[in-house]
Amino acid sequence: MSSNHVKIFDTTLRDGEQSPGASMNHEEKLRLAQKLAQLNVDVMEVGFPASSPGDFEAVSLIAQNVQGPVICGLARTWEADIRACWDAVKAAEKKRIHVFIATSDIHLEHKLRLSREEVLKEITSGVTLAKSFCDDVEFSAEDATRTDPEFLAVAVQTALDAGATTINIPDTVGYTMPQDYIQRFNFLYEKVPGLKDVTTSVHCHDDLGLAVANSLAGVSAGARQVEGCINGIGERAGNASLEEVIMVLATREADLGLTTQINRKEIHTASRLVSMITGVVVQPNKAIVGANAFAHEAGIHVAGVLNQPLTYEIMTPEEVGLSQNSLVLGKHSGRAALGARLKEMGYKLSDASFEKLFEALKRLADKKKDIFNEDLEALIADEILRIPLRWRLDYMNIVSGTVTVPTATVRLYDCEELKQEFGSGSGPVDAVYNTIGKITGSSAELLRFTISAITGGLDAQGEVTVRLGEDGHVVLGKGSDPDILVAAAKAFINGLNRLEYLKTHAPVLKTEERTL
Ligand code: KIV
Ligand code: ZN
Repeated sequence: MSSNHVKIFDTTLRDGEQSPGASMNHEEKLRLAQKLAQLNVDVMEVGFPASSPGDFEAVSLIAQNVQGPVICGLARTWEADIRACWDAVKAAEKKRIHVFIATSDIHLEHKLRLSREEVLKEITSGVTLAKSFCDDVEFSAEDATRTDPEFLAVAVQTALDAGATTINIPDTVGYTMPQDYIQRFNFLYEKVPGLKDVTTSVHCHDDLGLAVANSLAGVSAGARQVEGCINGIGERAGNASLEEVIMVLATREADLGLTTQINRKEIHTASRLVSMITGVVVQPNKAIVGANAFAHEAGIHVAGVLNQPLTYEIMTPEEVGLSQNSLVLGKHSGRAALGARLKEMGYKLSDASFEKLFEALKRLADKKKDIFNEDLEALIADEILRIPLRWRLDYMNIVSGTVTVPTATVRLYDCEELKQEFGSGSGPVDAVYNTIGKITGSSAELLRFTISAITGGLDAQGEVTVRLGEDGHVVLGKGSDPDILVAAAKAFINGLNRLEYLKTHAPVLKTEERTL
């Protein structure tokens, strides 16, 4: 069976992207993949190439540009899927094809309309074809935890016979419990002796809030690969939260005797990057990466922690890359101060991005006296990370008040061309959004609008998150600025850029085919 090394398989760019609204464009995916390489994950699953030309291009881009981890693409057992997957990943330094098919009766009957015999044939043909291209082939028995154990053992044996090198036993619908999962692994190890010669893997969804516990249960039963997403994002209630799995293994290493190769100091910036790019907010009390994860409020706790951090802390914030330095930047801070702060916060920017950020910092400092880390992160997100595909805000002016019809003049870059319009609305945000709608020709529906202050203080920046829907696509958009109307405009434009991307790159699979 097993070594002490637990492989971390990140699927933020594939299963994670299936979170409602969490779509990313190619450039954003590449940035995130580079971050995952810094985090030093063993494997990153970066898309499902056959699902759309956009997914294919993104996987190829990452395969060509990211070194270090194994770059993996997902494929059904179908020939066209496997060929597309290979074409997309083949340029990578290390590559994997991940072949899956459902094995539970409920999926066979209602989704695949295949008999068990036909599924076994699919496994043989799919894994054999994948193996003819690539040495490293993973097989997943989708909905394994609701599959008849005897049939699951046959399916696993069939995949092994065809050459699979990793066998994944997914809890696709988040149904299993730790004890059941352990029993299932024990049963499989007993029934399929060849399983001890390959890597077994866990892939747990969080529908009952058990994804991390179940993943660790699988590991205790012998699995040596854990699949999951940063911040636990993913389809429905999400996937196992990788940072939690990693920190359990690290914090309890003495008891568990297991290690990962993760560069834990990159955890915090990886989490922030996922949240800033996707717009999916991390709940404040989220373990490891939530804003309150290391905050002590109760007086007695604070006193204890000041005397000896271990009184109430089982791990230090520094271990996951959180800097405790709260010294602020301001109008007179120079490039050296910004550079030092970015380094503390774990950001490595190119020279061009650094200059862009420095200019944005100066503009912000004209409006806001003290610049905190949170302000800097919002600037990084707005200026560097969220990459506008088509529209960019150039200028806006609003007239609003108690005795006037709110009106807005907005000028946007549409690629390189400047376009200006004038419009009105029932309030200033409505006026801005109507005017932006005129320029872009968008008919997107505003499904949700939320605003919050990034830091305390009257001059705090406002952060706006919008949820937009159009033609069956739903996206999140985010923007920040000391002027909340400008923040609202930026969030709307960010959302429209994402919708634009989806219109041209969204998966072409029918809904019933995309039940992963
Ligand atoms: O949840 C699932 O079963 C999956 C498979 C494709 C591994 O995402
Ligand atoms: Zn999944």
